[in-house]
Amino acid sequence: MKLGVFDSGIGGITVVKSLLSHELFEEIIYFGDTARVPYGIKDKNTIIRYAIEAIEFFKNFELDLIIVACNTVSAYALQEMRESSTCPVIGVVEAGALAAANALHNKDANILVLGTKATINSKAYEKELMQLGYKNIDVKATGLFVPMVEEEIYEGEILQATLKHYFSETQIPHAVILGCTHFPLIANALQEYFGANTVLIHSGDAIVEHLEKQFIFSTKYKNPKLQFFASENPEALRKVAKKWLNLI
Ligand code: DGL
Repeated sequence: MKLGVFDSGIGGITVVKSLLSHELFEEIIYFGDTARVPYGIKDKNTIIRYAIEAIEFFKNFELDLIIVACNTVSAYALQEMRESSTCPVIGVVEAGALAAANALHNKDANILVLGTKATINSKAYEKELMQLGYKNIDVKATGLFVPMVEEEIYEGEILQATLKHYFSETQIPHAVILGCTHFPLIANALQEYFGANTVLIHSGDAIVEHLEKQFIFSTKYKNPKLQFFASENPEALRKVAKKWLNLI
């Protein structure tokens, strides 16, 4: 299968990492809209317009499937992307909610959803989780983590202060949905903050779980062909991709 992965910028590489570790695809074409990131502070119509432009870009590649790695886009533009696309389009929100449900059998469990302002305002995760029977859902827009991860701050004083700033009043949840592409990179710090009993739900692993339930993958691809495209400075994106994917 030839796969397209779309993100607002570099963050979606965390989803590519999960896909690569499961060796599911023969070819992956990544497009990050680095010229217009962040999407998480933009309004719905702008996010939809940019997402449809990404579909137009992917039409050059005859893809079998597109994965929307960006939570913000998955929350707002999935329907419109599907209408414009000639291949199926899958988002991370539904997959993330289903992964939380797989991890938490008690419907009274407390689930904390983290995301950008736009993702949290969309209530997309809450809707999915409520449909699955969960009602104790807390949400928090934690946008400061995005530039911190881009600055490669994965631990230390600044991150600890930010964790305190966001969560000092928060009840320890049974699960935290990392509802933003960047957050898996600070998963260790979040796990330490909330403790070992809190399950962290990672979009990349959630999407793999979701794909393996929907499709039959009979071949493993150990060395898939990878191509990285960006709307601005593709070299910088390729550099980050290589680093995050341990290709250098
Ligand atoms: N990729 C975005 C997401 O997962 C985070 C960065 C942005 O705000 O564009 O929501």
